[in-house]
Amino acid sequence: MTNIIIAIDGYSSTGKGTFAMEIARRLGILYLDSGALYRTVTLYALQNGEIEWNGAILDRRLQEDIILGKIDISVMSKADGTMRVFLGDEDVSGRIRELEVARNVSAIATLPFVRNFVDEQLHRLGSKGCVMDGRDIGTAVFPNADLKIFMTADAEIRAQRRVLQMEQAGQHPSFEEVLKNVQERDYIDSHRAMNPLRKADDAIVLDNSHMTVEEQMVWLDGILRERFNIGIL
Ligand code: DC
Repeated sequence: MTNIIIAIDGYSSTGKGTFAMEIARRLGILYLDSGALYRTVTLYALQNGEIEWNGAILDRRLQEDIILGKIDISVMSKADGTMRVFLGDEDVSGRIRELEVARNVSAIATLPFVRNFVDEQLHRLGSKGCVMDGRDIGTAVFPNADLKIFMTADAEIRAQRRVLQMEQAGQHPSFEEVLKNVQERDYIDSHRAMNPLRKADDAIVLDNSHMTVEEQMVWLDGILRERFNIGIL
């Protein structure tokens, strides 16, 4: 069953990407990181002077560029489950993780015309089968996905994971600051007017507060065997 669509949504820093990539690698199917597309649109807007120094977005210009087809996004999926994203000919996979993009992406992701544009791209890329992670995949992008998982974990544990990641990248954040940021992002994601983060009625909840990636694979293996008669262990 290679054309299966698995939708993974959840709060930030719950390890959606790691979980989704590992599933894609084990099933040999495409991994699509929907957040990367929002980040790529944000990078385009920054590169084209469409976000001002104070964060104000020149949304008419951005919308016009989208209508004119100027934002050319493509992705390359690799056998190890990772995904590279391109803006035109340029591989922007690294640049979309930079702080300037992170600072502006939430605002860009609230714009309805951006959400419609990204949704079209996600359908184009993923409708033949994929594991896709994001905030609204099971509710809005693929409401008929074969399997929907909603990921959560205690905010303190997610903050602790972020602190560790940042320390590994040579930064020294305070735990309180990171926790506050995690809670703020939870709020923004769940209170956005268009397609906010919420659990789809038919999604299965995965709370991985106290689970390793391998334990999550064992959990999923049970579900995949029962529902689709396929295993990933
Ligand atoms: O998962 P991430 O941090 O790369 O996501 C970047 C931003 O995009 C974040 O502000 C949430 C938003 N996003 C969204 O609104 N809908 C999605 N399906 C995926 C991401």
